[in-house]
Amino acid sequence: MLNICVCVSGGGTNLKAIMDSIADGTITNTKIVGVVSNNKNAFALERAKENHIPAVCVSPKDYASREEFYNALLNTVKGFQPDLVVLAGFLVNLPAQMIEEFKNRIINIHPSLIPSFCGVGYYGLKVHEAVLERGVKVTGATVHVVDGGIDTGKILLQKAVDVREDDTPKTLQQRVMEQAEWKILPEAIHKIANGQL
Ligand code: GAR
Repeated sequence: MLNICVCVSGGGTNLKAIMDSIADGTITNTKIVGVVSNNKNAFALERAKENHIPAVCVSPKDYASREEFYNALLNTVKGFQPDLVVLAGFLVNLPAQMIEEFKNRIINIHPSLIPSFCGVGYYGLKVHEAVLERGVKVTGATVHVVDGGIDTGKILLQKAVDVREDDTPKTLQQRVMEQAEWKILPEAIHKIANGQL
């Protein structure tokens, strides 16, 4: 059984995709042992609680320094004793110590085809705005291992999504989620849990 801790910052639709995939058997041999958010208003926390999954908020606002926040974040994640940490829309740069302690055991979903539209400043809707501004015809999503850089770790899975002439950042974001993110993040977890990745 692969025990996973899912870290979230916002709506938690990727968390929902993981929970649904465990429930319908698309993901096997996996248990979500905890959900951690840096944002107390994240709807993802509600989704977790509805599914009877322990959900904790560790907000930087509650700590005097970045270092104290990072310590609390690391200790909370470690408290769940996960085999794998899944960043599902977690918009916090991880502390170096966490990356070291969970070396090759943290994965992230990014809403573009890395190495395009990634790195500093590319997160959430900003990615899709940049895609439309550049005028590329194909975008998508990437699941990758988290290393010391931003979106630089080993690529595990990618899925392409066509850009439409009439797309807005929001319509494109929604389609990238539906067609790519909600498929390849559960697929990556299933494959890791079953020794296929
Ligand atoms: C997702 O689109 C995810 O790929 C993105 O944040 C969104 C979270 O949505 N992550 C990043 O941009 C990371 N660089 P969700 O809370 O509904 O899953």
